[in-house]
Amino acid sequence: MRTVILDSKEENIVRCAEHIANGGVVAFPTETVYGLGADAFNPDAVREIFRVKGRPSDNPLIVHVHSVRGVREVAEIVPPLAEKLMSEFMPGALTLVLKKKKDLPDCVTAGLNTVGVRMPSNPVCREFLRACNVPVCAPSANTSTKPSPTCARHVYDDLYGKIPFILDGGECEIGLESTILDVSGASPRLLRAGGISLQALEKACGRNIEVVGGSTVALCPGMKYKHYSPKAEVLFSAYYGGMSERIDEVYDTLVLSGKRPVILCADFNAKKYGERKKYEMGADYEAYARSLFASLRRADADGYDTVLAEGVPSDGIGAAIINRLVKSSGGKII
Ligand code: TXA
Ligand code: MG
Repeated sequence: MRTVILDSKEENIVRCAEHIANGGVVAFPTETVYGLGADAFNPDAVREIFRVKGRPSDNPLIVHVHSVRGVREVAEIVPPLAEKLMSEFMPGALTLVLKKKKDLPDCVTAGLNTVGVRMPSNPVCREFLRACNVPVCAPSANTSTKPSPTCARHVYDDLYGKIPFILDGGECEIGLESTILDVSGASPRLLRAGGISLQALEKACGRNIEVVGGSTVALCPGMKYKHYSPKAEVLFSAYYGGMSERIDEVYDTLVLSGKRPVILCADFNAKKYGERKKYEMGADYEAYARSLFASLRRADADGYDTVLAEGVPSDGIGAAIINRLVKSSGGKII
């Protein structure tokens, strides 16, 4: 099968939506990362996603909807707290875990009695979802274990020959996946840090939110898998006063042992690393988040064998950056 990247003109959006309606699988843009979508009510199409991605079948998919009506098509109960969060953060980078409707196929939710639902804000995505006219379930459109794709080219590199169409919406604005909040139980629980900060959610909820990401039990099934890994080894520094000196020290030791490291750093820290190889990640942490996955892929393409990533403060988007770096480094903190 040839894979083609289609630009986002209307006829291409319609063509992709028709392919979904016919039981096919299409990669599409969102403001977080690209998704690999199928009609959530077509079990054969859903199973094709797992096959194409090489995804374990016990890892559930997020359902993408165009409107609140779509949320009600897949969720049995939408509690008042969910309503409030929907009015504040949808469309946007928030996935809510809700009690699922019985007729939503079990393969979407990996047999769980809950479903993750998200309403993306990316305009191309919204047009696509409207044209599909069915809820579209989708994981990130990378091969399992690879960094998530933040542009059409990343999807092409991972999935060429496995899907017919990649709908091109340009570079993802946020660049890290959605925040996952479980509101199916008595109190809200954060399952994955992402594009919407914990602080913003707590403000909207008017209460503290329990963060369960650090738990040893994989509540969000995806948390137990190897993730976001380029070929290069990723080492990640904690964020503290002596961070750049420590990174320099590790860099120099690696070079002496014949390695080819590259540093990921904020623009304002770049000078501290002198002539050492580095990718400047941008002027703020939103920019760092936006270019993180692309930089991990670029390190492989540029022939580096080790990525030394600067740590960031843990508030705002920082929590999501830290979470992805911890995972892609397999917890190798320097
Ligand atoms: O930004 C995003 O969320 C992107 C775009 C494409 O929407 N999607 C994404 O999907 O990151 P994926 O499959 O790479 O990650 C989804 C995560 C997995 O860790 C999965 O275990 C979790 O969501 N998840 C899905 N349904 C769930 C549920 N009912 N309960 C708990 N976790 C769930
Ligand atoms: Mg993923």
